[in-house]
Amino acid sequence: MTQSRFDSVVSALRALTDDVSSFLPIRTARTLLSRSVQRPAPPALRIGQHEAALPIVQGGMGVGISLSGLASAVANAGGIGVIAANGIGLLEQDYYRDGRAANLRAFRREIRTAREKTNGLIGANIMVAVNDFHELLDVAIEERVDVVFMGAGLPIKGLPVDRMRSAGVAAVPIVSSVRAVDMIFRMWNKIYKDVPDAVVFEGPLAGGHLGFSAEQIDDPEYQLEAIVPQIVEALVPHEEQAGRRIPVIAGGGVFTGEDMQRVLDLGAAGVQMGTRFVATDECDADQAFKDAFVSATAEDIGLIKSPVGMPGRAIRNQFIRDAEEGKRPAFRCAWQCLSSCKADDARYCISIALNNARLGRLRQGFVFAGSNAARVTAIQPVADLIAELRDGYVAAVQRIVGGRVGALVERIDALRRQYAAKRAADAAAAAEIRDQIAARLAEAWSLVTARTDAVR
Ligand SMILES: Cc1cc2nc3c(=O)[nH]c(=O)nc-3n(C[C@H](O)[C@H](O)[C@H](O)COP(=O)(O)O)c2cc1C
Repeated sequence: MTQSRFDSVVSALRALTDDVSSFLPIRTARTLLSRSVQRPAPPALRIGQHEAALPIVQGGMGVGISLSGLASAVANAGGIGVIAANGIGLLEQDYYRDGRAANLRAFRREIRTAREKTNGLIGANIMVAVNDFHELLDVAIEERVDVVFMGAGLPIKGLPVDRMRSAGVAAVPIVSSVRAVDMIFRMWNKIYKDVPDAVVFEGPLAGGHLGFSAEQIDDPEYQLEAIVPQIVEALVPHEEQAGRRIPVIAGGGVFTGEDMQRVLDLGAAGVQMGTRFVATDECDADQAFKDAFVSATAEDIGLIKSPVGMPGRAIRNQFIRDAEEGKRPAFRCAWQCLSSCKADDARYCISIALNNARLGRLRQGFVFAGSNAARVTAIQPVADLIAELRDGYVAAVQRIVGGRVGALVERIDALRRQYAAKRAADAAAAAEIRDQIAARLAEAWSLVTARTDAVR
């Protein structure tokens, strides 16, 4: 429904309210007519003590795809900008001499640079499976990022929860099942007498490594529509115990503001998006990396078997096909960055391949991408993308609210005619109809005057 269609439904409601005001209690009609119609807005997203104006998290994207440039632009536009820590040391000259030190240095620098560019919310994405997970987490705490997102493994053991609390750093696991949520919350309760501040559910349509088997990826039971409501429900007892809301943020295939509205309607408090943020001026990757999204067709997007032992979604290219045929480019493992990686058996080093792609050397690497990457048609500023998402969300809410109000207007109109027919002959029946009219009018007006949650 366009703005003007929504406006015409509101005008019809106003005219009808005015018309029936002659037989409604005068105060009821006046009160309704004095209410101001609200343009719906996406709700804010609160995680721990932090609040983002918009319910949008830019998913962390390694290697070097979401650094200070992209993260600060998203934060400035009202979302949560996230710096991906994994493989970040590949930005440094000395990565092959001391990968661990290079990672920590580059990570700290990117957080500081982002802070200089924005007063908005900055998060860090750290993979639990990397060997320097705890050191990277220490840097994130020392630099007081607002939120740490922890994926690719369960963030359970040895976490400095007290230090995170005193530094005001919110803790958010990234999960791909309800089982993982249960396990994490049960263990946190036991070990730390505490719970994480939010949960990100990354569904099977996402880009990058996926926490699903190849069979689960297309199975409706594993999609956002099925899992998000289950996670929301699983968190209820933990919310009651903790006495605070634990928001669910869901991602994987979210492309438009309308998608955002649908995901929020499932009970999520926010969305996580990656693909759309790659196609922005501020994304930290080389132009060739971004252009690969613009030129990709639906047939190009597919699954890969990553050397880390998980499936991943990428733009399939010759590098991937060569690896599948057993070709093995010469590479040197800088250090055992991933605990599970068997460098000697691996066809290629995933960190080096992704870093080559970041630099635009697409023949020596490949581009991770979400299932909707082929829908990307242009590179745009982050601010334009966020405005488009916001407008799309508003239009989706107005369409739904407009439809409901339109139906109510028709019903009230019919009741009004019944009232006119009964008024002279049957006062009791007329009074009952009048009460129904008043109730339906109140319902319609509360829909057009609610700011954010009108649809739920
Ligand atoms: C290029 C690229 C790199 C990614 N790298 C990571 C990563 O390092 N860590 C992570 O948790 N998720 C990673 N992701 C997943 C995103 O954070 C996000 O959850 C996902 O892209 C959402 O799906 P969408 O692309 O359909 O929006 C990556 C995604 C892309 C497209």
